Amino acid sequence: MRVDVLTLFPDTMNAIFGESILGRAQKKGILHLEAHQIRDYTTNKQNQVDDYPYGGGQGAIMQADPLYRCWCAVQDDIGGHAHTVYMSPCGKTFTEEDAKRLAKLDNLILVCGHYEGIDQRFIDECVDEEISLGDFVLTGGELAAMAVTDAVCRLVPGVLSESACYEDESHWNGLLEYPQYSRPEVWHGMAVPPVLLSGNHQMVDRWRKKQSVFRTRERRPDLAERIQLPHKTRAEKKFIAELESEWEEYKHERSHSDAEKMD
Ligand SMILES: C[S@@+](CC[C@H](N)C(=O)[O-])C[C@H]1O[C@@H](n2cnc3c(N)ncnc32)[C@H](O)[C@@H]1O
Repeated sequence: MRVDVLTLFPDTMNAIFGESILGRAQKKGILHLEAHQIRDYTTNKQNQVDDYPYGGGQGAIMQADPLYRCWCAVQDDIGGHAHTVYMSPCGKTFTEEDAKRLAKLDNLILVCGHYEGIDQRFIDECVDEEISLGDFVLTGGELAAMAVTDAVCRLVPGVLSESACYEDESHWNGLLEYPQYSRPEVWHGMAVPPVLLSGNHQMVDRWRKKQSVFRTRERRPDLAERIQLPHKTRAEKKFIAELESEWEEYKHERSHSDAEKMD
């Protein structure tokens, strides 16, 4: 997969892209990540990319033309239209489902705004969708583009060692992940839940599923409302019935440990 980012800060982006899992995937030839300096596509001596907003108001707006020239150069290099996303607080909030959808593309262009944003006419002509990182405003689109690149690229086959690495994680199937523990068995007086030391994989699996469902209900009732647990087989139906009876107990335990923390 190839991801091109149009930005005023390509060095920052390229430095991050060269590190860790994304860097290794590029070395293996699975990914090609490249940040492009929009200023290189200006036609004025000062390499100015912004100007005042028509109608008045605060700050400056990134002009359509340098962005358009940069975007055309990248499209030419790719050799066709690449799905183009403008990172914007006015866009749809990014989710794991968007990451899965975008990871199926061969090419993706991410456009980073700065100042007060970018000229609407570039968006109207070149942008396929607007994506927001959340309901807050960043000073530029770079952090959002990095987050999207990372979340998308880790789902590209071969980037992580196995698909199990992400299929077990929060949001893949609408649930939050269960709590995780590593050595030592007791740390600061807190022991690892005994079931995880039992060696009984069925029981571990059941405990993890239960923790996932309960954690999602507790922390993200909005997500929990949407999940449909498998309920076809007798074992699945039994599991769902047991969950209902164990939910009150879980809530009681949680409120008890929260109260202890407050003391
Ligand atoms: C200061 S913001 C401009 C905000 C714009 N004036 C508004 O009120 O919608 C500058 C740039 O940061 C990026 N940005 C800011 N918040 C973002 C968010 N929540 N998600 C994605 N990109 C964001 C966009 O690319 C935007 O053009």
